[in-house]
Amino acid sequence: MQALPFKEYVKVEGWDFVDPSEYLREHAKTLTPEFWLQVAQELDWFVKPTRSIEGEPPFYRWFRDGRLNMSYLCLDRHVRGGKRHKVALFWLGEDGTERVLTYGQYYRLVNRLAYAFSHKWGLKKGDRVAIYMPMIPELPAVMLALARIGVIFSVVFSGFSANALADRIKDSGARYLITADGYLRRGKRILLQENVRKAIAQSPVEGVLVFERLGGEWERGERDVMADDFLADVPANVHVEPIPVESDHPLFILYTSGTTGKPKGIVHDTGGYAVLLHATMDWVFDAREEDVYWCAADIGWITGHSYIVFGPFMKALTSVMYEGVPNWPDPGIWWSIAERYGVSIFYTSPTAIRLLMRYSDEYVERYDLSTLRILHSVGEPINPEAWWWFYEKVGRRRCPVGSTWWMTETGGVMVSHTPGWKLVPLKPGTNGYPIPGVNVAVYRADGSEAPRGERGYFTITTPWPGMPLTIWGDDERYVKTYWQKFPGKFYTGDYAIMDDDGYVWVLGRADEVMNVAGHRLGTYEIESAIVEHEAVSEAAVVGVPDEVKGEVPVAFVVLKEGYTPSEELKEEIKRTVREILSPIATPKEVVFVSKLPKTRSGKIMRRLLRAVFLGQPLGDVTTLEDEASVEEIKRAYEQLKGEMA
Ligand code: PRX
Repeated sequence: MQALPFKEYVKVEGWDFVDPSEYLREHAKTLTPEFWLQVAQELDWFVKPTRSIEGEPPFYRWFRDGRLNMSYLCLDRHVRGGKRHKVALFWLGEDGTERVLTYGQYYRLVNRLAYAFSHKWGLKKGDRVAIYMPMIPELPAVMLALARIGVIFSVVFSGFSANALADRIKDSGARYLITADGYLRRGKRILLQENVRKAIAQSPVEGVLVFERLGGEWERGERDVMADDFLADVPANVHVEPIPVESDHPLFILYTSGTTGKPKGIVHDTGGYAVLLHATMDWVFDAREEDVYWCAADIGWITGHSYIVFGPFMKALTSVMYEGVPNWPDPGIWWSIAERYGVSIFYTSPTAIRLLMRYSDEYVERYDLSTLRILHSVGEPINPEAWWWFYEKVGRRRCPVGSTWWMTETGGVMVSHTPGWKLVPLKPGTNGYPIPGVNVAVYRADGSEAPRGERGYFTITTPWPGMPLTIWGDDERYVKTYWQKFPGKFYTGDYAIMDDDGYVWVLGRADEVMNVAGHRLGTYEIESAIVEHEAVSEAAVVGVPDEVKGEVPVAFVVLKEGYTPSEELKEEIKRTVREILSPIATPKEVVFVSKLPKTRSGKIMRRLLRAVFLGQPLGDVTTLEDEASVEEIKRAYEQLKGEMA
């Protein structure tokens, strides 16, 4: 087990800290459904909820008699409440293009889009639409316009391949696709049309709406419409009434990787999700009227949904959005942006921090970052070295730094330091405590609670607002994936430790899911992509540690008869994964083997492959798999070692 610096406390000057015992005492008082009903009253509902939680476990429903609209919460009330001219977004393109949008301008654009969606496309409440857009200001507008009329959207990360897009269109039953011509990445123009064309050839849609980022590089097909044409005859000041939807009306579907099968469409409700975001913007980010907020994620992932779009818009914050990567044209670009806009709340990933800390500190030291107030990271465990660098070099020892633990399924932050509620002393690398109203535990395999300091399975033990409604179209899979390992409790798939003070340390996935640079990938998905290559008979993928990305995939491949291993074939296999799935999923290494180590029941022993690749001892092979024959494993091990030598 990894040694953790349990006792290293950091208190930031100028901040009030409470004792862990006080936090836990106050936290215990929040663990009631009534607590959440009270928090819910802070939102602007059309019909205020009087009930907290209902439903057949695990299909819980929050605030069921409430009626609300996310688009209204994010725009109308700000525009009417005197914030029409407040900047909602400072957008910076990689080429230096700047766009500034106020809440009033967003309100206009969203209403025009909503009008065109319902009048031109005939979209109505409950329909689904897929969104495949890069980080441009129109993306939040599209999401809010669809939410305004009750249409359920599914955003597909713009770095995903045509196949991944097609799968998601098909599974969600999306009627339309909304996209853009492309975006800039490291000075290159990345075009989206080819992927869109291939995807809709497999999963047809009724039409495609195209926004322009690169001057309209798009060869118009019959079903395509450019955004300017789509909106040309829509009056500038049109108003579309936001539909008051039931609290449990699905707001969106977001696909995420699991251990087996295709990605799961996690369905989030409107009311519970809105309440969780409202609360976490306060507790976790301490968001205030005057803040300039920057969450440097991509909207294609849950972090972007919750903390680039809905959370900050609900709070009427001024946000920053940047199109490019953190180290191009140079590794100071992020800090120059933070200085330029006076960013006060900054949220990023450990991978980005590890990437940037490899360069000279001058790149960060040369900028005035005195406006920064709160720093958080998300997506993977943060190693203490990265934590210290973030704390000292970026935060200049003035800002609390946290590692917010949550996942696509939880909707919002679950475990974190909470500078906006009660702040306990920081410990480099920990996630901290569950936020108010959230109950977690670390379990042993038998369902008993693991003693402090022992690694176990991380579990959320009571339902929370923002939890999934289900997996789209597959209630059974929802129950099986999350609610069966520890009956009645939500199993996260993560390993965690609780230290002596009760701080949570999430260590990583306990299942066959990988976390590559904070992106979740199923080993099964990558294996399925590899076997698409004509030379491949069988493949097994494992995650191995990587200094920057945390973890990267390594593929073990058995070739079909008649094919011989070669460097060329390795490259081809890598390219296949890039094209079928995504560049993120590309294996760092392809190892050719003549046989994969399996148990008698045919399960590939990935842990063994990982140990072989890392040159680690196999450990106690008898416990690896119940039905595994030790001799069989040893033989496979010797063979692999021989082949890799
Ligand atoms: O393993 C945990 C890790 O990321 C997984 C969730 O991935 P995803 O659904 O893509 O959402 C990521 C962004 C919310 C978790 O099961 N994870 C996320 N945040 C942390 C983390 N692991 C450790 N520390 C974190 N702060």
